[in-house]
Amino acid sequence: MTSKNYIKMIVYFNDKYIPHDEVKISPFDRAFLFSDGVYEALRTYNGKLFRLDDHLERLKYSLQQLEIPFHDFHQIEDISKTLADINKIKTDYSVYLQISRGVSFPRTHNYESNLTPNVFAFVKPIKDNSKEIKAGVKIILEKDLRWLRCDIKSTSLLPSIMANQNAIRNNAYEAILFRDDFFTEGSHTSFFAIKDNKIFTAPLSNYILNGITRKVVIELCKENKIDICEEYIYVNELKSFVEFFITGTTTEVTPVIQIDDWIVDDGKPGKITRKIQQLFFNAVKQV
Ligand SMILES: Cc1ncc(COP(=O)(O)O)c(C=O)c1O
Repeated sequence: MTSKNYIKMIVYFNDKYIPHDEVKISPFDRAFLFSDGVYEALRTYNGKLFRLDDHLERLKYSLQQLEIPFHDFHQIEDISKTLADINKIKTDYSVYLQISRGVSFPRTHNYESNLTPNVFAFVKPIKDNSKEIKAGVKIILEKDLRWLRCDIKSTSLLPSIMANQNAIRNNAYEAILFRDDFFTEGSHTSFFAIKDNKIFTAPLSNYILNGITRKVVIELCKENKIDICEEYIYVNELKSFVEFFITGTTTEVTPVIQIDDWIVDDGKPGKITRKIQQLFFNAVKQV
């Protein structure tokens, strides 16, 4: 399957593998009415799901926080492989998995504990990002308009969508969000800044998602004796940093070379960013 023939995509929906346009879901599904659902996004390297256990742990956490009763975590690897096989995907692929709380009829804000979640998944070939990885990207800065439980990977994403759309409108790859006087993360990525040979990224809290790539980068820094601080990057100190990068499952480690109108350094990815990329790509090769 190439990225152009989604028309023929077979998806997973509640124990069935069916063409995407044959999925039937009630308009009373709570994800449709309230964004009452969670999701995960994973990818393979060499055909194997990268950091599957970390993704499952994060999914479990999101489900627990929202009291959504889904427990079939052991099926996820098999669902992903089956989808890749049926769709004849020969390359590495990404997996989108969504679990909604299910249908409550008629519409009410509160939920009962016995609803049956609707489980949906699809896979698609990984898009080539070698240009961005090599040359770096522009980002814009946007106010963080999201709720105060960004640690939950909820399908309720409107502020992130608006911020990212604004980035694309401004010929940028990503919007980095600030809350009060500090940066939290990107609309769909984690954010890192470097000065004095030290890498900074926001600490884990309800303000950010526990990014799996973020976690891998922190581990690699510690293993390789590179200074890493889980401390806020303050807006008024932005220009004291000399390198920036963003991370994510499909973004991997992407250098930032422009922030709004500011061309960072000479508009080329910095040395420490390159080192982190090298460590990261070595690590994923070994899975
Ligand atoms: C808000 C946000 N932060 C960070 C990330 C990066 O997380 P991960 O590295 O697990 O893909 C994502 C990924 O979707 C995200 O949505």
